[in-house]
Amino acid sequence: MSTPWTLARRAERMNPSVIREILKLTQQPGIVSLAGGLPSPRTFPVDAFAQACAEVLATDGPAALQYAASEGHGPLREWVAAQLPWPVDPAQVLITTGSQQALDLVGKVLIDNGSRVLVETPTYLGALQAFAPMEPEVEGVACTEDGPDLADLARRARGARFMYVLPNFQNPTGRSLSDGARDALVQQAARLGLPLVEDNPYGELWFDQPPPAPLTARHPDGCLYIGSFSKVLAPGLRLGYVVAPKAIHPKLLQAKQAADLHTPGFNQRLAHEVLRHGFMERHVPAIRTLYRQQCRTMLEALSSEMADLGVQWNAPQGGMFLWLRLPEGLDATALLPQAVARGVAYVPGGAFYADQPDPRTLRLSFVTASEDQIRSGIAALASTVREALPRPTAVPAARPQTSGVTA
Ligand SMILES: Cc1ncc(COP(=O)(O)O)c(C=O)c1O
Repeated sequence: MSTPWTLARRAERMNPSVIREILKLTQQPGIVSLAGGLPSPRTFPVDAFAQACAEVLATDGPAALQYAASEGHGPLREWVAAQLPWPVDPAQVLITTGSQQALDLVGKVLIDNGSRVLVETPTYLGALQAFAPMEPEVEGVACTEDGPDLADLARRARGARFMYVLPNFQNPTGRSLSDGARDALVQQAARLGLPLVEDNPYGELWFDQPPPAPLTARHPDGCLYIGSFSKVLAPGLRLGYVVAPKAIHPKLLQAKQAADLHTPGFNQRLAHEVLRHGFMERHVPAIRTLYRQQCRTMLEALSSEMADLGVQWNAPQGGMFLWLRLPEGLDATALLPQAVARGVAYVPGGAFYADQPDPRTLRLSFVTASEDQIRSGIAALASTVREALPRPTAVPAARPQTSGVTA
């Protein structure tokens, strides 16, 4: 029987998240998942939330359970404005249902069908997903270890609506922009009349020193800033925020009203109750210590297992992810089933590119698995790569000095 439903064109543009598909694979017993970007549940402040829950219900119960303003809970907006390192009016802060919703709202408000949008190469897959239904032409700006190539940016900027940038411990690569690169990017964008959308869910997760000031602190009128409580409190709260220039804020607010009326007032009050007595200063250092140690374990495992395989990887200074490049001729997507068969999963890098994916890349998370799992996962990945490498042609037995060398 034929279906009476006709999908909108934008629905055709929606794709299942590669990561969610891979997460399904990793739910099989015995698989070490270095794939998902899930914060370590060991860091979730369950007791602080139990207390806050009782307090909020006792002191503010009916209001917490009532419909609320779309802008967000006033005291939480004030808390956000006060902790940002540039002068922010709380009226500019819009609390969102996770920072993922901020990306969706930004897409709705700033992208028309066919608008050009610039992103880093590679970039956060979830942003590509959030923008896709608005039918933009998304272009990747060439990037080095120190951020976007400014000449390439200049070539592409004309007519683009904005560039989406993750300056701190980027998802997927873990890389960060230096102070100088931030200045240069902000100045170049201002010269080109290109707005910047800055996404910063990982900035607090530094290992040895805090990252340089955000792009938005350098040019608040030319930037829109997105933050999240997911990586420093708990992702299940679904709390994020966007700080927008005054010209944009009302439109984001209207888009949010249409999307979900408001972010749960109960969750906002819980978060504020937990945060208001300097909780972050006590809590976040423990997350940093844990993630620094886990990252170190992964780097040590990579050095001991993969040094001879021609694999390249970086050493992130914070965040949750490390970026790896396989030797020439290998393809991370094609290799994944073999890796899973050996007991480890990762995310192939191709999904993070707006265009021209590098098939040799892959993303590893060092925060969800335990240190033992990280070691066994990297060992399994190394044997997968070793097995997949082209074997050197066997040397004829007539040459005794190398006979027997076949791998
Ligand atoms: C770069 C980036 N932005 C936004 C998000 C969305 O986070 P949330 O909606 O939990 O705030 C994520 C999630 O992993 C992310 O990595």
